[in-house]
Amino acid sequence: MKYFSILCLVAFCSTSFAQNRIGTGGSKELYTQYCAQCHGQNGEGGQGSSLIDDVWKWGGSDEEIAKVIREGLPELGMVPWEGVLSEEQIRSLIIFMREQKYLAETTDLLKRSMPKDGIFTTQYHKFRLEKVLELDDILWSIAFLPDESMLLTQRDGVLWKVTNGKKREIKGTPEVRGVGQGGLLEVAPHPDFKKNGWIYLSYSQDAGAKVGGKTASMTAVVRGRIKGNKWVDQEEIFMAPPKFHTTKGGHYGSRFVFKDGYLFFGIGDRQEGDPAQDLTVPHGKIHRIYDDGRVPKDNPFYNTPGAYKTIWAYGNRNPQGMDLHPLTGDLWETEHGPRGGDELNWIRPGINYGWPVITYGMNYDGTPWTDKTHMEGMEQPTHYWLPSIATAGIDFYEGDAFPGWKYNLLATGMSAEEVQRIVIQDKKVVHIETILKKQGRVRDIATGPDGLIYVALNRRGPNKGGLHKLVPVE
Ligand code: HEC
Repeated sequence: MKYFSILCLVAFCSTSFAQNRIGTGGSKELYTQYCAQCHGQNGEGGQGSSLIDDVWKWGGSDEEIAKVIREGLPELGMVPWEGVLSEEQIRSLIIFMREQKYLAETTDLLKRSMPKDGIFTTQYHKFRLEKVLELDDILWSIAFLPDESMLLTQRDGVLWKVTNGKKREIKGTPEVRGVGQGGLLEVAPHPDFKKNGWIYLSYSQDAGAKVGGKTASMTAVVRGRIKGNKWVDQEEIFMAPPKFHTTKGGHYGSRFVFKDGYLFFGIGDRQEGDPAQDLTVPHGKIHRIYDDGRVPKDNPFYNTPGAYKTIWAYGNRNPQGMDLHPLTGDLWETEHGPRGGDELNWIRPGINYGWPVITYGMNYDGTPWTDKTHMEGMEQPTHYWLPSIATAGIDFYEGDAFPGWKYNLLATGMSAEEVQRIVIQDKKVVHIETILKKQGRVRDIATGPDGLIYVALNRRGPNKGGLHKLVPVE
């Protein structure tokens, strides 16, 4: 197994790039060398069958396809590859074939999802996409206050309050380490905001820690209040001791969910893989604390010697989306996987979600990570995206403006530039529809008090952020 610390030498290395690499790299080279002569340059078929038409004569599950590749179909002219290719290489070829299928379909998806006369057409609703405002850097998080004003985080460190479409900067928020994927991240008001005025922020904190002379940082959570244009009354809610800070510039996780006096949030593996399985460190975990920062004594590893006491669940690579199901109260999370391994998970206490031991993905460069997708004691994702969409914010839709989407999960994808509408029944994904495509990198999504859907659409190089809303049309 290779680790991202080796592969991602630059801070900017992120799964956001995974989509751009679809169909390239080590797995493509393997495919070209060993398979293309019979199955076609892009898997379209030839002497061997098409590998992208979703017709699988010998079964379409990962296991069945792996078996055909391993054992071959000698009487039909399909060579057995066992001994030539490792199990990990076979796994990377399956990911590659699935990517090729997606590429073949994308043209069609694009045609279907482009607006006509400014109107987007989906299964249940038509809508227009309206720009609300623009920012000079990435728009990371969108939150609504009870008076219908809005809070927005701009990743390079600015908190905006938006009232009637006008934005003003709130001064005095914490200094952020704005390197790589770091910066000012999540914002959310306390559920009792009307009474207590608390607003929560997460950010990448430089607390002065150094590793090998280099600046180290870590995800931190604070709360404070807004008075006029100022951030005041700040309190620390979660700060990991400096020994847990790392020099990597990515996988800070974040996103908040409040429930019954608790605050849930995630921290990514900080691009180091293994720590996600280590219960003594906060990396690669979902955490639960009280909303004032105290640690609940009934957390699953509270009494485990040496364990980090705020851990609620573990084995999470980079949690970037989190929300409660409005009817069941279940906690759902999306996390960035490696290439082909983005996940949707139903988060429960004490559960191991498997990263980096099991995953459906491979390295960004198309070389294998592992052939292990299942393991005893490790939870399967409810859904995984192959290819990756670079999952970010999620929101269960609770508004009335789009009745056909009520209680569906709206999931964003940055590199795929998508919003997907996901229907979950009995904890299973039963339907997925792409409702927005190629309008910008979608980082966050939120339902407004007006029932409209607000999306953060970003562009890179130079970074630009835009808040847009989906407005239904008859
Ligand atoms: C010498 C030609 C040849 C090469 C090289 C070859 N295949 Fe095949 N492959 C075939 C033939 C022929 C079939 C059987 C088609 C049929 O079912 O009639 C097949 C079938 C398959 C199937 C099953 C398809 C289905 O419908 O279930 C898979 C998967 C597959 N090949 C993958 C690969 C991969 C991956 C490689 C490269 C490592 C590869 N093949 C290399 C000729 C080849």
